[in-house]
Amino acid sequence: MLAVLDWYRAAGVDIAVGGEPVDRFAQRAPARVAVQPAMAAAAPQASGGTAEPSVIGGDPAEARTLAASAHDLVALEAILNSYDGCGLKLRATQLVFGDGNGQADVMLIGEAPGAEEDQQGKPFVGKSGQLLDRMLAAIGLDRTRVYIANTVPWRPPGNRTPTPEEMALCLPFLHRQVELVAPKVIMTLGGPAMQTLFDTTSGIIKMRGKWSTLQVGRHQVEAIPTLHPAYLLRNPAAKEQAWQDMLGLKLKLVELGLA
Ligand code: URA
Repeated sequence: MLAVLDWYRAAGVDIAVGGEPVDRFAQRAPARVAVQPAMAAAAPQASGGTAEPSVIGGDPAEARTLAASAHDLVALEAILNSYDGCGLKLRATQLVFGDGNGQADVMLIGEAPGAEEDQQGKPFVGKSGQLLDRMLAAIGLDRTRVYIANTVPWRPPGNRTPTPEEMALCLPFLHRQVELVAPKVIMTLGGPAMQTLFDTTSGIIKMRGKWSTLQVGRHQVEAIPTLHPAYLLRNPAAKEQAWQDMLGLKLKLVELGLA
């Protein structure tokens, strides 16, 4: 039993979804439900067609309208708190919206909350957050001078990477968060955050350390991708590259007259 539980945990099954255990062996097999012709007709085609990719459980157009209606960060957080379009919310303890200074010149964007962030409701408070704080301190920054958010504001079960659909659905909210903070500089942390913000399929190793000018909604901003602190914890030798990126960030702030 312990081995089975351990395997479940490794596979991401780390919370109970019901108060009472269910004995599936005692249940009868469910009768097979015939697919109705109308349902079959509505099923997505396997290939061909140019329709926008569907997002499971949510409508990106609705997300865009909701996000646009927020006139400040407090309103955006409230909207996200009552938004039920993203399935991640169902398994998360709470929304992890953002942390730091909502008027900062520097915004950091990570991938997704982990277990500790999910418990505390704040981004980057676990081990990788502690490393992030040390990286920021090394160039004279702290959370009073940066704002931190994630590509998705709910913890994916078992800390898996958010799916492209989940990130696409949450993107209008993240874009609005960027517009409202209006940072001069963005640093993305890790591959998924970089791919989402920079709208690229390139890998983080190739892209890290390079500056681009991004248009995020109506806000234009200088942006640099770097490695994720969790990756640095697993691959300490890569800290040298991350340090170059942090120095690049410091230099950019000096160039912009912000440091
Ligand atoms: N990793 C992330 O990408 N974000 C967090 O908030 C915590 C860990």
